[in-house]
Amino acid sequence: QNDNNIRPALLAEYIGQPVVKEQMGVFINAALSRKEALDHTLIFGPPGLGKTTLANIIAREMGGNLRSTSGPVLERAGDLAAMLTNLEPGDVLFIDEIHRLSPMIEEILYPAMEDFQLDIMIGEGPAARSIKLDLPPFTLVAATTRAGLLTSPLRDRFGIVQRLEFYNVEDLTTIVTRSAGLLNVPMTKEGAVEVARRSRGTPRIANRLLRRVRDYAQVKGDGTVTAEIAYSALDMLAVDKRGLDNLDRRYLEMLEERFNGGPAGVESIAAALAEDRGTLEDVIEPYLIQQGYIVRTARGRMLT
Ligand code: ADE
Repeated sequence: QNDNNIRPALLAEYIGQPVVKEQMGVFINAALSRKEALDHTLIFGPPGLGKTTLANIIAREMGGNLRSTSGPVLERAGDLAAMLTNLEPGDVLFIDEIHRLSPMIEEILYPAMEDFQLDIMIGEGPAARSIKLDLPPFTLVAATTRAGLLTSPLRDRFGIVQRLEFYNVEDLTTIVTRSAGLLNVPMTKEGAVEVARRSRGTPRIANRLLRRVRDYAQVKGDGTVTAEIAYSALDMLAVDKRGLDNLDRRYLEMLEERFNGGPAGVESIAAALAEDRGTLEDVIEPYLIQQGYIVRTARGRMLT
């Protein structure tokens, strides 16, 4: 089975994120009973927390098709026009990495979102024409790792904005247990807790570690994921007891040793680690901040 099969398809199967879950349940039910498309929805948060899963669930619950694309893929006006004109009433258009849309594409999106109107120029010079088309009522679901990177006119056009949080160990344990059941992996409760504890608050990581721990259990044990098997497997994978991975540890060590605990600018840290600044800001720092290892100050990052 691949990852898609273990993704929850309905809101009721979605574990954790209680605030998001309750709100989306209300908004979806209200839109359904009015026989309207759900308002455009922006989902933001660090990678692996379920943004795409939630987009799938919204489409399923609303009874529409999901059409997926992403910010960097939409290069030309025609790319977006093709997606929009293929929509049926009630469909969900999912745009991942919405912060990477070009300004020209963003301009086309505004009337599409607000009035379900497609308004584009075709041709050039004297032969140029502006064409207007009515679009079916649809829902734009957009995802981004950082809502701060969106222009405010774009952000303002979303009626619903949801922020996904890191998962606690209890919810991750439930997710790992559910996935193990779907993948037919024999696992003890303690085995599930061990995988959950080391998953960096992130279901995508939990499900990946589950597969690797399953491999380990098959080869080094009798196939059952016990706490001991999970423990040894995760040590082999260099995931430490706090769930930090290699880059997390290099970040913290660099901040301590090279920058004396900070404050240090993110550019300097990125250069010292030979990593991309965006990766640190989107992937590494949110978890280290949430766990209380570092703080962001006006003068830079500091160890706590
Ligand atoms: N698999 C990955 N994320 C999940 C979630 N939030 N709920 C249920 N299963 C999941």
